[in-house]
Amino acid sequence: MKNILVITGSPRRRGVCSRYADELVSTLGGMDARIGRWNMAESSVGGCTGCEACRRRSAARRAADASEGVHPYCVIRDDMQKLYTMLDAADEVHLVCPVYFAGPPGQFKCVLDRLQPYWELRRGPNAQPGAADAPKRPVTLHVIGAGGDPFGFAPLETIVRSAFGSAGFRVVEVVDRVGWGQPESESEKQTFPAQSEGE
Ligand SMILES: Cc1cc2nc3c(=O)[nH]c(=O)nc-3n(C[C@H](O)[C@H](O)[C@H](O)COP(=O)(O)O)c2cc1C
Repeated sequence: MKNILVITGSPRRRGVCSRYADELVSTLGGMDARIGRWNMAESSVGGCTGCEACRRRSAARRAADASEGVHPYCVIRDDMQKLYTMLDAADEVHLVCPVYFAGPPGQFKCVLDRLQPYWELRRGPNAQPGAADAPKRPVTLHVIGAGGDPFGFAPLETIVRSAFGSAGFRVVEVVDRVGWGQPESESEKQTFPAQSEGE
């Protein structure tokens, strides 16, 4: 059975992203899949400090010839540890993220930066042999926003592509939901596209 992970990137507990993710989960629920959820609003994640402990750990693993797969190591012990475990198990990710001034909210940028240990394991100077060759798993990015901002969300998309790409994923679809569920458009909520398996 496929493992689908739905990540909500908003720091607001009961905002538009949370409602959108609830609807998304009920749509995905029709598929033969196990669905996990990780919410920024219920988590506390500190920013990467570039300490390179993950690089040193990769070197130690390689020297010991330890085959631990690509479960990442980070010295910062916080709610990112749970997300690492969920990402390890995910066959597919749906990321529901608000746009804040064209990029991600600061809290979620910390999460994206904390994907760095995956980069060390897959691509860094002490990468695990063959790790970078594993097939990339799909990510769908659902962008939530109030609209009206002339700068769009290209930086958000690029940052998500870069960070998830380094972690062994590929953004296969960007779903533009700017305007969805915003207070002034409540009566005009868009409907979800039909989910087709194997996409
Ligand atoms: C600091 C900040 C910056 C924002 N920048 C944008 C923006 O550039 N474009 C946009 O469409 N919406 C922008 N918004 C609106 C949010 O994307 C919108 O309110 C969204 O619903 C937030 O997600 P949430 O309801 O799950 O918290 C911004 C909101 C905040 C608080």
